[in-house]
Amino acid sequence: MSRRLIIGGNWKMYKTPSEAAATAKSLKVKLINVENVDVVVCPTAIDILAVREIVAGTNIKIGGQNMYYQDEGAFTGEISADMLKDAGCDYVVVGHSERRHVFGETDDEINKKIVKALSKGLVPIFCVGEKLEERNAGKTEDVVGGQLKEGLAGIEINSAEKLVIAYEPVWAIGTGVTASPEQAEEVHRFIRKFLTDIYGNALAQQIRIQYGGSVKPANADELLGQPNIDGALVGGASLDPDSFTAIIKSAQSV
Ligand code: 13P
Repeated sequence: MSRRLIIGGNWKMYKTPSEAAATAKSLKVKLINVENVDVVVCPTAIDILAVREIVAGTNIKIGGQNMYYQDEGAFTGEISADMLKDAGCDYVVVGHSERRHVFGETDDEINKKIVKALSKGLVPIFCVGEKLEERNAGKTEDVVGGQLKEGLAGIEINSAEKLVIAYEPVWAIGTGVTASPEQAEEVHRFIRKFLTDIYGNALAQQIRIQYGGSVKPANADELLGQPNIDGALVGGASLDPDSFTAIIKSAQSV
């Protein structure tokens, strides 16, 4: 069975609208006919419209970095699923470790966001991952399993295209320390098994599980070559069009 890999670029709180536009212009040129891999860039909210205008007509899709689970209301500073959708997003990152650990987002809130994203036709990129002390205490599967159980509680999907999981070990994000291909594959295999138990084998085999955490051109081939790693969610290396493009080329060649 051939796999269609997905490479996401999470630009986090980097790039002003004009910087984001310049990056998008460069990516557009480099990736004009990108095929056989899904490419999603996730600019900060204020950059989305500028990026959308530039990548229109290409195969580059746009994702939000976060959203709130209410439709509208007095929620200063928040963004709804409808707003993301109307601004041109097809995806939304939910439960990123920085949302969980810097902003205190809970599994229950993440679950509500996934429910809302799906109901509005946005594909959630649902992030899970353990902290270093949890890994060292042998609790990786407990932590990741718990996040999956709570985050996906009550969530039915009828197509594997509707959901993307990102395994992002907290200790590997922005640290330059990457999980080894074997460490990452081990957790991805565990996630696949978890998905099989709730969605059945056929769907679970097709749901894309991205790895995120210090992915760069030098390690992309090896990580993406693992049987249960179906893509990457790239932070730092996605800010530079050359290195992001190099990672996408890796995905096309594995
Ligand atoms: P880095 O690639 O900078 O480690 O970030 C990973 C990440 O958090 C992507 O969402």
